[in-house]
Amino acid sequence: MPKIKSIYLDNAATSHPKPESVYLAVIEALRAGGSPGRGSHQLTMVAERLVFATREALAELFNVDHSECFIFTPNGTTAINQALFGLLRSGDRVVTTMVEHNAVVRPLRELQKRGVEVVKVAADPVTGIVPSSLLQAACLRKPTRLLLVNHCSNVIGSLQPITGLGRWCHNHNILFMLDGAQTAGSLPINLQALNVDLFAAPGHKGLLGPQGTGFLYIRKGVDLLPLIYGGTGVNSSSDSQPQLLPERLESGTLNLPGLAGLYEALRFILKADIVQVRAREVALVRKILSGLGMMKSVKLYGSDDVMLRGNAISFNLANYDPSSVGFALDQQQQISVRVGLHCSPDAHRTIGTYPLGTVRVSPGYFTTDEEIDRFLRAMQKLNDNKLMN
Ligand SMILES: Cc1ncc(COP(=O)(O)O)c(C=O)c1O
Repeated sequence: MPKIKSIYLDNAATSHPKPESVYLAVIEALRAGGSPGRGSHQLTMVAERLVFATREALAELFNVDHSECFIFTPNGTTAINQALFGLLRSGDRVVTTMVEHNAVVRPLRELQKRGVEVVKVAADPVTGIVPSSLLQAACLRKPTRLLLVNHCSNVIGSLQPITGLGRWCHNHNILFMLDGAQTAGSLPINLQALNVDLFAAPGHKGLLGPQGTGFLYIRKGVDLLPLIYGGTGVNSSSDSQPQLLPERLESGTLNLPGLAGLYEALRFILKADIVQVRAREVALVRKILSGLGMMKSVKLYGSDDVMLRGNAISFNLANYDPSSVGFALDQQQQISVRVGLHCSPDAHRTIGTYPLGTVRVSPGYFTTDEEIDRFLRAMQKLNDNKLMN
């Protein structure tokens, strides 16, 4: 692939760059060979230990006692599909929000066709936040199986106030699921303290791992039917899927190079300390918000309060559609941002930017202050109409 030198501000899509140790681990695992759970020769055992260590690192980062509660998936979308199709049956009811990604919206639409009732609760059109009281009221209207919340919108950047919601769900016999695509690896998350039953996330965004990695956390006692059936390396004599996690939900050969990279990424984050990672994100987001906030042709979306936000910042420039802003930044300034609907049309309906969408800028762990300064200078020129031809 050709290398393109750019200021990369699209970390909400996938983080870039990754820690150097991640690149090295991917290559090393690919060279080393061995497939976890497939036989008992030495290469297999080494691979098996690596996968176990990766599960343990996830358990440490997300404060979970049993690492077998994490199953690996190719991305966040597959983890969400596994949770939803594994759990929901005709007659079940799900309450969710109007700021979900299509990774949630589309499986739920399909499940709706199969007899599942789906209720979407509106978010505040300015902040993108869905008050817990509205979610609770929607859950109480009829017997509800699942409350599913996008922890942080990939469009509006709204961080949902979920503290206490998991406990409330448990008290009302409702399962609580978080889509952690935009928060895993970006802020401290204690899955046990939050009483989360299901947590789906990619490994390739805030967690700084390679594309092709993701995971689903399933709290002990929550039973999911597998999305995929097949070889797991255990109980090979049986024609039925194993009962125990993680094998029950992990059929087929795992992405060992990806998991080797994810392992190094998790070690990197654990060493950097997630509290510091979040502090860095907050500082970068604050700098971008205050810089863009001073430009009179820029309309920013989402909360002014940086503590209620993740790293995704959406804006529009008066009189220009988002794609022409993105094109000018990319082609004239070598700055990579994402434009359009970001696979989340409901979030754009919420803030009134459907169907054209917004320009989304999302810094990451390795984004520097100088890069933000350059981005803001480029935006100032666009604001002053000096870049568009
Ligand atoms: C909120 C949210 N959920 C789910 C996903 C899907 O993750 P993946 O692309 O790893 O399948 C994304 C990806 O952008 C996302 O932002």
